[in-house]
Amino acid sequence: MRTGFTHQFMLMRENEAKKEDHSNTTDHLELRAETCPIYLNIINVYRTNTCGELRIENVGQNVTLAGWVQRTRKMGGMTFVDLRDRYGITQLVFNEEKNADLCAQANKLGREYVIQVTGEVNERYSKNANIPTGDIEIIVSKLVVLNASQTPPFTIEENTDGGDDLRMKYRYLDLRRSNVRANLELRHKFCLAVRHFLDSKGFLEIETPVLVGSTPEGARDFVVPSRMNPGQFYALPQSPQTLKQLLMVAGMDRYFQIVKCFRDEDLRADRQPEFTQIDCEMSFVQQDDIINVFEEMTKHLFKELRGVDLGDTPFLRLSWKEAMRRFGSDKPDMRFGMEFVELKDIFTGKADFAVFNDAAYIGGICAEGCAVYTRKQVDELTNFVKSQQVGAKGLVYARIQEDGSVKSSVDKFYSQEVLQEMKEAFNAKPGDLILILSGEDANKTRKQLCELRLLMGERLGLRDKNKFALLWVVDFPMFEWSDEEGRLMAMHHPFTSPKPCDIEKLDSDPASVLADAYDMVCNGVEVGGGSIRIHDAVLQAKIFKVLGFTPEKAQEQFGFLMNAFKYGAPPHGGLAYGLDRFVSLFAGLDSIRDCIAFPKNNSGRDVMLDAPGFVDQTQLDELHLVIKHPEA
Ligand code: AMO
Repeated sequence: MRTGFTHQFMLMRENEAKKEDHSNTTDHLELRAETCPIYLNIINVYRTNTCGELRIENVGQNVTLAGWVQRTRKMGGMTFVDLRDRYGITQLVFNEEKNADLCAQANKLGREYVIQVTGEVNERYSKNANIPTGDIEIIVSKLVVLNASQTPPFTIEENTDGGDDLRMKYRYLDLRRSNVRANLELRHKFCLAVRHFLDSKGFLEIETPVLVGSTPEGARDFVVPSRMNPGQFYALPQSPQTLKQLLMVAGMDRYFQIVKCFRDEDLRADRQPEFTQIDCEMSFVQQDDIINVFEEMTKHLFKELRGVDLGDTPFLRLSWKEAMRRFGSDKPDMRFGMEFVELKDIFTGKADFAVFNDAAYIGGICAEGCAVYTRKQVDELTNFVKSQQVGAKGLVYARIQEDGSVKSSVDKFYSQEVLQEMKEAFNAKPGDLILILSGEDANKTRKQLCELRLLMGERLGLRDKNKFALLWVVDFPMFEWSDEEGRLMAMHHPFTSPKPCDIEKLDSDPASVLADAYDMVCNGVEVGGGSIRIHDAVLQAKIFKVLGFTPEKAQEQFGFLMNAFKYGAPPHGGLAYGLDRFVSLFAGLDSIRDCIAFPKNNSGRDVMLDAPGFVDQTQLDELHLVIKHPEA
């Protein structure tokens, strides 16, 4: 449908076009109005079309395009230029015989020059089926160089020769590559779909402040000195957790925000110091109400943006305990089986093998068809589990032979009878390879076995990026012990409600208390997490006490929340998705950096802006700051 402005604009263009060219131009504009209305508003003095738009139907039309020179090729008396913009690539042709001056100009064009060309759309002699505009080319009659470019430091094509650091330093050039740009387009569509969905469910998007107070529970804060309050600091929010709870106290009922969060923590492929959450909160809800809304949203997003139908059945729910027992992780990758089998009962006391006899946990996985692994391959696995990253002491392995017998690295300790019992426990078949870890700390050993399971899943091609396995992990422990802090810490955050039936154990046995918390996991990635919150000031004060806060300290840091709870706080709960993680999963990326326009590197630096950096003395003086060791 034509809107008022667009209609007027198009009539103007049509009249102009009629003056210039009588070859069916009205049809051409009509065609574009139908097929790509979103491009219409960018027709202006610089261009009539984008570089991704022209097709065989447009042959004979006179067009003006603007964009970047991706590449020039000189072939005899002809010069071909690939012109690129956000929408695609169109081939330009310059013919020396027809216009020697123009061709000479084209031969001077360097990579990434910004140019404007006018010419006629022509059917190509040799078509390029790999690009949508591959049937046509533009026979150029006018060329204007809008801006020259230095030779870029790496090739701006899908497969680039630029290393990570270089691409990050010149990220604005990296973003010109179609595959990187596609990730940002997907991210944009993702955000739109989220906004539409949540709006349809009555959620209000409300912004919360970025300069807030420091809440040292959780990761480290990024802090910002206040000039007007000497010696005092704001913190950047790790998440708007307490603010969204206050919005529930304020009666907003359903809130969401696509919001930047800041955490000063060690970085990994799925962690950035500055990342984005889809942050949500609802009033008068229990766990199932929240899970239902966000499961529906997740299914909707998969269908809309990925064309994947996740079906009508609810996502699997695993308790934290079960997830740890079966997969050694609170974010199990369920695209494949290879579940843990516990072997303590089978091995303990059956031989003089101290490694197993002294272990608190013995468990293994069965890698189908891997008995053919050579000694070298098994050694590689042993080195992997013994690496610093995993930290196991060693690896026991057993090959199931063609005749059903078991050949293992512990043959000299255990009878074939015991080994057969182990084989039965795995339901292993001839040709399978059993890999076993043991250790004195059960949870630690499970986590090590989890790393091995993921590696084997990768090696066996079981972690297909086009397959999605979603589940909820529920019933997390409320607290976990921190050796570093020497006290219990909240496993989610201190505002999470204990399961009502466990509240009475808070004094006597806090470590056994379960939380009303849940994580959404997809392909081994925690894409979201949340909980039912405490809405009672007395219970909240009790949790702070278990966490080792004095009443004064709790009041100083979280008094604003506990006071608010005294003014009629509704029962409430919510969750936050990691937007960057979700989009990376959809796009099949290895790192969330690839779907962030300007990410930080692994040392938390923005190498393009060269930040963080020093500030000058005047700024420090204004902020009442003295730097102790600027070089350190
Ligand atoms: P949580 O800390 O679990 O919960 O964060 C929610 C989700 O945010 C993503 N995420 C990250 N993504 C990229 N880089 C990071 N450094 C990073 N840290 C977290 C994850 C995670 O599941 N306020 C609570 C939510 C709630 O209880 O409602 C919170 O922030 O995908």
